[in-house]
Amino acid sequence: MISYKEPFFILETQSLTYAFKVMETKHLEHLYYGNKLSHDDLENLHTKLTAKARGVVDYSETEGKDVPLDLMTLEYSSFGKGDFKLSPLEVKMPDGTFVSDFIYHKHELINGIVPSDKLPTAHDGSDQTKSLIVTLKDTKFDIYLDLIYTIFFDSDVMTRRVVMRNHSKKSISIRKIMSMMFDIYGNHYEMLTLDGGGIKEGQKHITPVSYGTYINSSSTGISSYKHNPGVILLEKGTHEDYGNCYGFNLIYSGNHYTAIDQSSHGILRVMQGINPSFFEWDLKHEQSFETPTVVMTFSSKGLNDLSHHMHHFINHHIIPRQFKDVVRPIVINSWEAFYFDFNEKKLLNLAKKAKHLGIELFVLDDGWFSTRNNDLSGLGDYDVNTKKLKTGIKGLADKIRHMGLKFGLWFEPEMINPNSKLYQKHGEYSVQIEGREPSLGRHQLLLDLCNKEVRKYIIDQMSEIIDEAKLDYIKWDMNRYMTDVYSKHIKNQGMFFHTYVLGLYEILSTLRNKYPNILIETCSSGGNRFDLGMLIFGPQIWTSDNTDPIARLSIQKGMSYFYPLSTLSNHVSLSPHEQTLRKTPLHTRFNVAMFGVLGYELDFKYLSKTELKIIKEHILFYKMHRHELQFGDFYRFNEDDPYHMYYQVSKNDKHFYGDFQILTLPNPNLEMLKLKRLDKDKSYHMKSINQKMTLDKFGHLISHALPIKLNPNKFLFRLLTKLKMLDNAIEDVTLSGTALMHGYKLKQQFMGTYYNNQTRIMGDFGSQIYIIKESS
Ligand code: GLA
Repeated sequence: MISYKEPFFILETQSLTYAFKVMETKHLEHLYYGNKLSHDDLENLHTKLTAKARGVVDYSETEGKDVPLDLMTLEYSSFGKGDFKLSPLEVKMPDGTFVSDFIYHKHELINGIVPSDKLPTAHDGSDQTKSLIVTLKDTKFDIYLDLIYTIFFDSDVMTRRVVMRNHSKKSISIRKIMSMMFDIYGNHYEMLTLDGGGIKEGQKHITPVSYGTYINSSSTGISSYKHNPGVILLEKGTHEDYGNCYGFNLIYSGNHYTAIDQSSHGILRVMQGINPSFFEWDLKHEQSFETPTVVMTFSSKGLNDLSHHMHHFINHHIIPRQFKDVVRPIVINSWEAFYFDFNEKKLLNLAKKAKHLGIELFVLDDGWFSTRNNDLSGLGDYDVNTKKLKTGIKGLADKIRHMGLKFGLWFEPEMINPNSKLYQKHGEYSVQIEGREPSLGRHQLLLDLCNKEVRKYIIDQMSEIIDEAKLDYIKWDMNRYMTDVYSKHIKNQGMFFHTYVLGLYEILSTLRNKYPNILIETCSSGGNRFDLGMLIFGPQIWTSDNTDPIARLSIQKGMSYFYPLSTLSNHVSLSPHEQTLRKTPLHTRFNVAMFGVLGYELDFKYLSKTELKIIKEHILFYKMHRHELQFGDFYRFNEDDPYHMYYQVSKNDKHFYGDFQILTLPNPNLEMLKLKRLDKDKSYHMKSINQKMTLDKFGHLISHALPIKLNPNKFLFRLLTKLKMLDNAIEDVTLSGTALMHGYKLKQQFMGTYYNNQTRIMGDFGSQIYIIKESS
């Protein structure tokens, strides 16, 4: 519901209220964002100033109208009229000054969303989605700012963006324009961000906010894994299940920026939008500029609840409608199996084994085109390498489909290798500056998406392959940051980054509309472009090139602050792991990957029969529960034990709990399993999975337990390892929700003294999954 009760604007979702008012001066004062509020309270939520403060500038000395803007919590601000808090705007006005003064002009209430011309926005999907446009006008020039608000009632989420319209006679230049600004009282906040890098995406950091400006941004050209665009502002003391927190994320895949500014007088200002660094946008007479959309929400119940708002919103209003609630297929991806070294025979062999194990979609990754036998050449070309693929992509796709698998293909459409046919023909398609040696990233350059001809080239080339091979899936990769940015197709180079992103969105939406049913998984060397902009086009993202389950624990957990499990693509790969050389149990690799969209990325020929049998069981298990594992509510646990991590996913009456042991401690503590989100009065059956072990788990120690002495280096031991599995302890109890939430005392872990089939064997990197179902 959105209502206007002069002078108040009230935006309400299921359990939250957002309110602001038009002040006497016609500036907008922000009043409230929090739990649902009675409208009667609105009268008393404004800032109460009874005395002149020292050192402030009044907006106007006119009787009854003098307002020290610096002391107000404002809804959006201008620059140069007395608000000295960090400004959301830096605009060179028609008179050459940077001074603007935007005040209330009019407003409009709208059913549903307000569509955008060029930028991706959330879709409604519910008749309770309502929008509000509040138009502000500069007091001197015919320049307008439309503040666009949309409420997504069912998700407890709202979105904000602004459009600047220049109806003045002269051009103006925008150097900074934030999508939203949010002012609150308080100096007791912290800022949660996800930072990292390649193969260490999504690492959570909490920074105390003190006086000054705290920035989370990217200037790489993409959202980047250096700093994900999502930011949470949390009150000190807030944790996973307790406390007040505000979440912000941007539907944008380019240079983003969030600033949290703690100013004097205890006002804290948050703003989010396009990174103003290296940005300058010329806005001519009658032109308008639209910012990307900010997604925001609040919870008084801690970070898990805040994430659930975001997750619901993404599953219902961000990902393409045709994938809403649609379970995602289990993938076998060729990359870590073969890298560039494959031929049709190898691929078909892999597909055949995958099919036998229950896998549903075969994805041919990099290396299928042009001279692409390593990463030195070929990007930009689309001719199939028939030395590797005798019957072309179509031939391969047909054969794979004939086996009963779906078929998908890897592309890196935004790139060109200097060593490629395309470069020889159209070197000018690449992004570089004349007279400067361009910096290469993975031996490649960027294609200039500011150029219409380039956009058409990509769409045409991709369409041809999609049509020919009737692709079911596309992996859309992007493997370098932007440098040497210049395009002769734009006048002001300060417009490059944003024009590139608009070009990318144009290509993606053209292909999305043309092929609505293709499942697009986006990727950028893993999670280097994990953002809401990309999720508008493809419902899942390759979370990280790091598939080591122990490394993945914190990566997936980090991403879960903003993104639901249905968006996290997770693969099981071989051990020791390619990036860490860590040896991990197959069960743990699956147990981590199953919290999201499961896939495999390995050559099955390196696995034993026993391991293949286990994989088959894992896949069967995943298929039985995948709806819950992809679309359930994910719960994180407070990190009070560095040696363990716990995941829980819950949907309706089913719950899955993952207990991951990062390192074994000698003589370990006794442990409790403490579930969340159960109904205290209901009864539940909880059962763990019997994760049988092979003999080699115990190595030479086994000889102490058996009547015959076995040497682990000899044939008999190896044979028995293949044939004989040892049981692991199972928990199988029926208990009330109250008991399970209070904490269930688990069976003791192996303590180096004794083993029988009731001893819980976890070991280093061990894990256990518990299924909890309502029992009648
Ligand atoms: C990137 C991706 C990988 C793989 C390779 C192929 O690194 O993240 O998954 O597709 O490119 O070159």
